[in-house]
Amino acid sequence: MLLEVEGLKKSFGSIVVADDLDLSIATGEAVGIIGPNGAGKTSMFNLIAGGLSPSAGSIRFDGHDLAGVPPQGRCRAGMARTHQIPQPFEKLTVFENLLVGAVYGRRRTEREATQSCGEILERLGLLRRANALAGSLTLLERKRLEMARALATAPKLLLLDEIAGGLTEGECAELVATIGDIRKSGIAILWIEHIVNALFAVIDRLVVLNFGRKIAEGLPKEVMQRPDVHQIYIGIEA
Ligand SMILES: Nc1ncnc2c1ncn2[C@@H]1O[C@H](COP(=O)(O)OP(=O)(O)OP(=O)(O)O)[C@@H](O)[C@H]1O
Ligand SMILES: [Mg+2]
Repeated sequence: MLLEVEGLKKSFGSIVVADDLDLSIATGEAVGIIGPNGAGKTSMFNLIAGGLSPSAGSIRFDGHDLAGVPPQGRCRAGMARTHQIPQPFEKLTVFENLLVGAVYGRRRTEREATQSCGEILERLGLLRRANALAGSLTLLERKRLEMARALATAPKLLLLDEIAGGLTEGECAELVATIGDIRKSGIAILWIEHIVNALFAVIDRLVVLNFGRKIAEGLPKEVMQRPDVHQIYIGIEA
């Protein structure tokens, strides 16, 4: 297994965001996560990526225990994430944003980084915006930049937090195609998304979270047919 989360627990006061969570992802696998607002989905990413510390449980990644490993160490080990609200370095150019990922997130030399960043920008359809300030990008471009910057760190696992949210249907379809390509290149994906159609075009397996608990897991279509999941999904759609 590439990622093995076991017995993860975390609360904020009386709000339980991780309630004995287990989750495994194999190398190259694509797993989707759905759940209502406040279910603890982003918190789970924060726990995995190291921004938050669990009160109990363990996370193993690529054979290593991540206890005490800071976010930058997890990134260098091959884990990269995007943020629900894009967080580019607004005053740097698109290209410079990627360089930060490649140089500091992967410890590449600037020369190696320059080449790989150019390739990633091309793959993500951002090459013609390479010299634009990140602060000037449209929402779709910002979402693409989140992914491009994550890819610049050469991850084995990419965590996507509602990357398709807020886009038009056409933009969403474009993004799904890009994510499909990333997946085909062998990078494992853990993708939180409310837009189930987009998610289902890419994932192998679906996990449903509610109140910090994993309430269902399995093949996407089978999971969605469960009455308790269906009930929650209607709430998500509304
Ligand atoms: N740092 C924090 N301090 C206190 N409460 C927090 C913190 N982070 C998250 N929470 C609370 O924990 C709960 C879960 O938040 P989280 O962001 O993980 O939900 P989510 O499933 O990602 O929701 P959404 O679909 O709205 O993005 C929410 O009630 C949120 O207000
Ligand atoms: Mg969230």
